[in-house]
Amino acid sequence: MVFYYSGCGNSKFIAQSIAEAFDEKMIFIPEAQRNGDFEYSLAEKEMIGFVFPIYSWRSPHLVDEFVEKLKLNGKPSYVWTAVTCGDNVGETEKLFRKELEKIGLNLNAAFCFKMPNTYVNMIGMNVDKPEVAEEKIAKAKEKLPNVIDMIKNHAEYSDMIKGAFPRFKSNVIGSGFYKWASDEPFFSTDECISCGMCAKVCPMQNITLENGRPVWHGNCNTCDACYHHCPKHAIQYGKATRGKGQYFFGV
Ligand SMILES: Cc1cc2nc3c(=O)[nH]c(=O)nc-3n(C[C@H](O)[C@H](O)[C@H](O)COP(=O)(O)O)c2cc1C
Repeated sequence: MVFYYSGCGNSKFIAQSIAEAFDEKMIFIPEAQRNGDFEYSLAEKEMIGFVFPIYSWRSPHLVDEFVEKLKLNGKPSYVWTAVTCGDNVGETEKLFRKELEKIGLNLNAAFCFKMPNTYVNMIGMNVDKPEVAEEKIAKAKEKLPNVIDMIKNHAEYSDMIKGAFPRFKSNVIGSGFYKWASDEPFFSTDECISCGMCAKVCPMQNITLENGRPVWHGNCNTCDACYHHCPKHAIQYGKATRGKGQYFFGV
């Protein structure tokens, strides 16, 4: 079973590639949460995996919240995680391992995929140049068969890219992230054509169209799916996204 979360498709691609290799069922965490589906029965020798993007050098809050409520009937034969990040992950593995331990799971392997950056909500942060994005995706595709092999062999493994000052980033910046991350700065410009793409792609179902324009309702992970998928580039995040690029997996 593969539990996954993804805003802009990078993590979905990784989750799907691994799930297909093992003919595993995929569970989309935001949907499971909305439906209150926290209890799952495992077949004998079934393994479980968790795939998600790195947010501020940690696992996204909703992933931790889901794990906290998760109830498994049966013991997984192997527990793995695959994370996607733009650059590095800090102490995500250590912190996520603790979350899993709280529900009695031991993390056997942690795989790290560098993928195109999606975070644009801060001055100075932008999407990768197309050639950088392409190279990251090419390397991730090259790495996938090795990861699948390791999962098949139940390898004990970790290749997390921690980056500089991992403790500070994950514990100081990362733990404060959701205190200031908010959907309040999102707005649509007059380029908006009322197509509803933003509402459709929002993993949290946090956007509705009112008078033909998107309205954000406060249940946001700032995954930026709305910003990146807008066909008219009509969604902005305050002044922070002015003049910046768009990206989502599959283009
Ligand atoms: C809110 C937010 C915070 C992020 N924080 C980090 C980070 O701390 N380190 C990093 O390398 N990438 C960071 N990123 C980039 C994403 O982890 C990366 O682009 C990921 O592959 C996006 O996955 P998705 O397409 O499945 O949503 C962040 C992206 C967002 C939207």
